[in-house]
Amino acid sequence: MNLQKKIESHIRIVEGFPKEGISFKDFSGVFQNAELSKEIIETFADHVRGEVDLVCGIESRGFIFGFPIALALNVPFVMVRKQGKLPPPIVSASYELEYGEATLEIVEGQIPAGARVLIHDDVLATGGTAAACSELVKKVGAIPASYSFLVELDFLNGRSKIESEAEVFSLIHYQ
Ligand code: PRP
Ligand code: MG
Repeated sequence: MNLQKKIESHIRIVEGFPKEGISFKDFSGVFQNAELSKEIIETFADHVRGEVDLVCGIESRGFIFGFPIALALNVPFVMVRKQGKLPPPIVSASYELEYGEATLEIVEGQIPAGARVLIHDDVLATGGTAAACSELVKKVGAIPASYSFLVELDFLNGRSKIESEAEVFSLIHYQ
């Protein structure tokens, strides 16, 4: 079985969660399989090896594979957190939600100017979260060099918000 098929066989689709009309992709089953998780981490790392200097993982589910990818690449990892979780000094960027706005933050000084950054998250949906992370990276003078996601929801076209600046690599696609 190829990697995509293996991952798909560990994803549970839950209709109507967290609200009506949403088809929730629960891939917590992937983490139960250590061999599969290691293969995923290696695949993400191999894809960008030599091309990135640092990995940003987006809270919270982007932390799960983000940190091990950084370890596999032997580069630093930076937590990109939701507002109010990190102590000052911080750098922040805001983005639109369906209703209202959200903010992502990093600790100032953790991403050096000029660093080529892999932005990693579990899901690319509307792209708002990834685009805000990219804005943060650029704000500190670093370069969004590559994006990786376990799952991309193609029908939401989040890719269009970010692909102009760097490659977007997703292991699983839902149409
Ligand atoms: C989910 C998911 C991505 C983001 C994708 O995170 O983990 O981070 O939404 O959506 P977007 O492309 O439309 O911005 P969520 O904010 O639900 O929080 P969590 O990771 O803490 O569960
Ligand atoms: Mg998230």
